[in-house]
Amino acid sequence: MLAGRDIIRVSDLEREEMDALFSFADELAPVARGKSDLCRGKVLAALFYEPSTRTRLSFETAMLRLGGDVISCADPSASSAAKGETLADTVRIVEGYADVIVIRHPLEGSAAVAALYCNAPVVNAGDGAHEHPTQTLLDLYTLRAERGRIEGAWVLLVGDLKYGRAAHSFAYGLALFRANMACVCPPGLEMEGEVSKRLARISGRPALQFSSIEDLEKDEELRAASGGKPMRLFDAIYVTRIQKERFRSPEEFEAVRSSYSINAEVLRRAGDDTVVMHPLPRVDELDYGLDSDPRAAYFRQASRGVPVRMALLAAILGKSASPQPRGVGARHAVPLHAPPEYPKVETPGLTCENPRCITGQERHLAPDFREIEGTVCCAYCERPIALDSAGPASRGSKTNKE
Ligand code: NCD
Repeated sequence: MLAGRDIIRVSDLEREEMDALFSFADELAPVARGKSDLCRGKVLAALFYEPSTRTRLSFETAMLRLGGDVISCADPSASSAAKGETLADTVRIVEGYADVIVIRHPLEGSAAVAALYCNAPVVNAGDGAHEHPTQTLLDLYTLRAERGRIEGAWVLLVGDLKYGRAAHSFAYGLALFRANMACVCPPGLEMEGEVSKRLARISGRPALQFSSIEDLEKDEELRAASGGKPMRLFDAIYVTRIQKERFRSPEEFEAVRSSYSINAEVLRRAGDDTVVMHPLPRVDELDYGLDSDPRAAYFRQASRGVPVRMALLAAILGKSASPQPRGVGARHAVPLHAPPEYPKVETPGLTCENPRCITGQERHLAPDFREIEGTVCCAYCERPIALDSAGPASRGSKTNKE
């Protein structure tokens, strides 16, 4: 069902497809410590232009456990990128060597560009502050394993929701499964407008937003729903670190540094079954004192990266054992490797203004703007562009819905 598909964003997967992947991961879990030959003869290329421990090593382990082989480029300064080669050229070379490409890159939209330029399926292992869909798969799988449900679960997202790609993708995944979500983040680290708008559209309601756990505990609605103990409502607290490397200035980072910490005191107010999740690495937002608490699920979460990525790789390589769910797949009858299936908007002369967009580096890319949730966005990084009064939106284009 997923054979040959690119996985760039959470929205590239249907909910039924994720369920099928989770069942497949259950089936594969016993061989996540052994060896199968499901993907024998297949090669995975890991192109990592940004630091990684868990994501790269678990993808590589997954492919090796499936009986396949791995080629890796984990140091951009040792690849032709250092000589000025574009990503579009690199992936066209690498598809000659590999059957599937996993890419991590600091620029938003980079995985989409890789998918656009090569025929091998591309999996996004994190593109700047945009998305990290395979982290979401293992996060949802962990919630399902630890709490027995995703739909209807209560999840508290804590941390840097502005720059955290893992948090963005997880929030989209939770919304898709109709989980309940509340967010706690220091002022300045809230989700960007377009991310919360997409979330509200998927889940049908805006996420609850607080600037501290103390704030959340004062919320009347949550107090009423929880018998006066809001922290006990949550099935999981999902903590993320402040994404220091994405801040525009050291001052911006200093203003929020060490502004929250999940420790034994917070957990004392949570439920007996409330698990603590974290995509890791942690810095100072998650106290080491929690590690011995059975509710600390983050190391279990990280180890689930192997069976989940085994399931995904096998499925993409056409080895899925799971039946195709009914009614799924029609949306993907569109050509693979097409830009997002949103209406194109003509914006002559405009370029994306997001300084972290791949279009700023790959000058050969044709600007491409789409209407996403009623807003004109760059098709690569999916960030909105400002259209002034003389811009296309005000000239009667169907983009001016807000
Ligand atoms: C995350 C990432 O790289 O986005 N890490 C991971 O993949 N497990 C989270 C982070 O770096 O904070």
